[in-house]
Amino acid sequence: MAADRIVVLTGAGISAESGLATFRGPGGLWEGHRLEEVATPEAFRRDPGLVHRFYNARRRRLLERDVQPNPAHRALARLEAEWPGEVVLVTQNIDDLHERAGSRRLLHMHGELLRIRCEACGQRRSCREDIDCTDACIACGSAGTLRPDVVWFGEMPHGLERIYEALSGCGLFLAVGTSGQVYPAAGFVEAVRASGAARTIELNLEPSAVSRCFAERRTGPAARTVPALVDELLESAARQ
Ligand code: NAD
Ligand code: APR
Ligand code: ZN
Repeated sequence: MAADRIVVLTGAGISAESGLATFRGPGGLWEGHRLEEVATPEAFRRDPGLVHRFYNARRRRLLERDVQPNPAHRALARLEAEWPGEVVLVTQNIDDLHERAGSRRLLHMHGELLRIRCEACGQRRSCREDIDCTDACIACGSAGTLRPDVVWFGEMPHGLERIYEALSGCGLFLAVGTSGQVYPAAGFVEAVRASGAARTIELNLEPSAVSRCFAERRTGPAARTVPALVDELLESAARQ
C-alpha cells in the first residue's frame, strides 16, 4: 500500500482560507456576475471588455500580498515530496498557490490566471498585468486577440487523457474543496471506483453534490483537515 499512487483533485475551497472567494458559496465569485456573462467563449465574443475586467480583478487579487498558500497547499506539497509512491495533483483552480507552496507534479485542468494566449497565433505567455481588449499580441502583432489562458464552459479541460490514466489503478483518490457541480472533474470519483478498489476520501467544508460517491468524508476547513490527513498517510507509510 505504501507505494500506491495518490491522485488529489482540488477546487476553489482549498484556496478559500488564503483569501480567494469560491465560486458558488456565499460571497462567491459569480455573485453579481452570472457565469454566462464572464466564463464562456460566447460571453467573450459578446463583451470582451467585461470578461477582461473580471479576470483582471481576479489577477490583481491573486497578486496582493496577503494572498498566500495556506497549510492545506503546503501539506499537499509535503505529501508529494515525502510519499514513497507517485502523487499526482490535479487542480481546477486557476491560481498559483499550489506552485508557490512547492507542488511540482501539478496539472491545471482549467488553465492559469497568470497566463494569456493569443487567439490569432496561439502564443501563450505569462502575464501579471491587466489586459485590455485593444492590447496587441507581442508575437504576431494582432490587436484584440488576447484572452486569459483559462478553460471556459463549453471548452475542453486540459490533460484529461493523463488524468484518467492517473486515476485508473490509483490506490487513493482525494477531493479537496470542490462542490462536485462541474464535470468532468465531478465524475473523477466515479471513474476511480469503476476502475478498481481505491480508497476515496472527500475533504470539504460541507457535503458536496457527489459526496455519496466517496467511501470516506472529512468535514471541516481544508487548512485543518488536509494537514491532518497528510500526517496520517506519511506516518502509515513510515511504519511499513
Ligand atoms: P459544463 O458545465 O458541462 O462544462 C463543459 C466543460 O467546460 C467541462 O468540461 C468543464 O470542465 C469546462 N469548463 C470550462 N470552463 C469552465 C469554467 N470556467 N469553470 C469550470 N469548468 C469549466 O458546461 P455546459 O455544457 O455549458 O453546461 C452544462 C450544464 O451546466 C448546463 O445545464 C448549464 O446550465 C449548467 N451550468 C451550471 C453552472 C453553475 O455554476 N451552476 C455553470 C455553468 C453551467
Ligand atoms: N475548506 C474546505 N472546503 C471549503 C472551504 C474550506 N475552507 N471553503 C469552502 N469550501 C468548499 C465549499 O463547501 C464548496 O463545496 O469548497 C467548495 C467550493 O466549490 P465551488 O466554489 O463550486 O468551486 P469548484 O468546485 O472549484 O468549482 C469548479 O467551476 O466555475 C468553475 O472554473 C470554475 O474550476 C471551477 C469549477
Ligand atoms: Zn498573436
